[in-house]
Amino acid sequence: PTAGEFKAFDKRCTHAGCPVAEIVDGTITCFCHGSRFSITDGSVVRGPATEPHTEATATVSGDVVVVTD
Ligand code: FES
Repeated sequence: PTAGEFKAFDKRCTHAGCPVAEIVDGTITCFCHGSRFSITDGSVVRGPATEPHTEATATVSGDVVVVTD
């Protein structure tokens, strides 16, 4: 969400399980039905999803960001 800060979330949309596609206008965006989620905490910014994304752990190791459940 800010330079040097990394967040990671489950790739599956909480609405119907489509893989979320990309970050658009600062939100994690699912193109299947248009849900959007906060890049800060995974909360729903726009439905139809009603449940937030599950956050994973993002750890920086040199030039690599390691994501674990
Ligand atoms: Fe993502 Fe429906 S599966 S909005």
